[in-house]
Amino acid sequence: MIALIGGSGLTELDGLELSESLVVPTPYGDSSAPLLKGRYAGRDVLFLARHGHPHRIPPHQVNYRANLWALREAGACAVIAVNAVGGIHPAMGSGHLCVPHQLIDYTWGRASTFFDGELEHVTHIDFSHPYDESLRERLCQALHQCGQTFSARGVYACTQGPRLETAAEIIRLERDGCDIVGMTGMPEAALARELELPYACLALVVNPAAGKSTQLISMADIESELGRGMGRVRSVLAALLAAL
Ligand code: HPA
Repeated sequence: MIALIGGSGLTELDGLELSESLVVPTPYGDSSAPLLKGRYAGRDVLFLARHGHPHRIPPHQVNYRANLWALREAGACAVIAVNAVGGIHPAMGSGHLCVPHQLIDYTWGRASTFFDGELEHVTHIDFSHPYDESLRERLCQALHQCGQTFSARGVYACTQGPRLETAAEIIRLERDGCDIVGMTGMPEAALARELELPYACLALVVNPAAGKSTQLISMADIESELGRGMGRVRSVLAALLAAL
């Protein structure tokens, strides 16, 4: 069963035929919200609102470990994450969709591994390619099918938040090779890998990153871009699921 993790602007999945709301106990505490199990585009899915429903948990306080653990316990075999991001590369204008192929983690102080505490063996997962290539390809096919213009590659910078970046920080991320910037891609992707769950991200650009436009970044602008974009995101998710 595919799990969908919805971010800002996607705290609920319109069109989900709900069969169960699951509260799954985990060794790490509670997931951000109950897992919603149901049918979407004719397929069984699990849906989780990353920031809770209603949206209330900031990116640095999301219990990523509980979220991934609960999804796996409930039967997830792969995860599609939806993330709102700022655009750094000129091609990443507001409203653009991107399926990143790489990431750089700039977060700190987040509980970022299941391999913690007293362990029999120290484990280092391979994370050279953080996103699952076949899931990425399926996402790109769904984007094509829905007639979306999108980038099939991109480097996602994950910052700590909850504040947005300074213009100089964005110049640094650009120098590092980052194309988009968000606050929730990590440790989610790494935890999915630790659980051996294939993971891919569908990122919606909701603002030009700091210093990339003459205007200040306002929550109102971000929210209206989310409102415009999430309908497209839902149709892409439906096409992806129907094709699986
Ligand atoms: N920076 C970091 N995270 C974000 C942004 C941004 O500009 N926009 C949406 N999420």
